[in-house]
Amino acid sequence: MPQNKYLQVIEHPLVHLYITKLRDQHSGVQAFREAMDRLGGILGYHALSHVSTKDVQVQTPLERTSGVELAKTVHVVPILRAGLSLVQGILHFVPNAKVGHIGVYRDHQSHEPINYYDNLPEGLDKGTCIVVDPMLATGGSASHAISYLKENGANDIVFTCVIAAPEGVERVHNTHPDVPIITTYLDRELNEQAYILPGLGDAGDRYFGTTPS
Ligand code: PRP
Ligand code: URA
Repeated sequence: MPQNKYLQVIEHPLVHLYITKLRDQHSGVQAFREAMDRLGGILGYHALSHVSTKDVQVQTPLERTSGVELAKTVHVVPILRAGLSLVQGILHFVPNAKVGHIGVYRDHQSHEPINYYDNLPEGLDKGTCIVVDPMLATGGSASHAISYLKENGANDIVFTCVIAAPEGVERVHNTHPDVPIITTYLDRELNEQAYILPGLGDAGDRYFGTTPS
């Protein structure tokens, strides 16, 4: 799958290191969380290259010079639950970002997204929305979340994930061609249960230490 300005796969040795920890079925909750948190920082850094800045003047102890500040509010929108694992990656760099929540789980049979909770900040139309979720599998959850944000006024949206499947990238590109996808890894394909291969299993269960339902 060719990269373009709407699909960025971050290439870095640390990404390979942390993804290997996530993939390893022997990684316990602590090792899994640490690796995910670090990838959240790497994703956050790259996602924030999409925010716009405006010129400002700043007074150093010696003279006045030019600088920049954020031109728009940053909104981080985790897709619950697993998306919560990537929120700090953005807040680390933009501690005053607003956080909106969209609760979606996949139906076990149809694999289609079921919406169960939303709480979005005001002023989405004036900010940049960074949607975070570690896994982009069929793309149903991401497409649903992005549509919901657009219905609520968002017009500048970036989607970030740790592992993307080609099927999910295609679905998000088809439904939301204006939304760039930033990922640390592009995996091979989905299996019959719509799990990503080689993948890492269920991101939410492994991050939160819960048992698959
Ligand atoms: C996972 C993941 C995504 C979704 C991806 O969530 O965090 O939200 O699956 O799959 P899709 O691209 O096919 O929609 P899950 O439904 O397991 O819920 P959870 O985060 O509560 O564990
Ligand atoms: N959700 C996950 O957590 N993992 C997958 O492989 C697919 C969807």
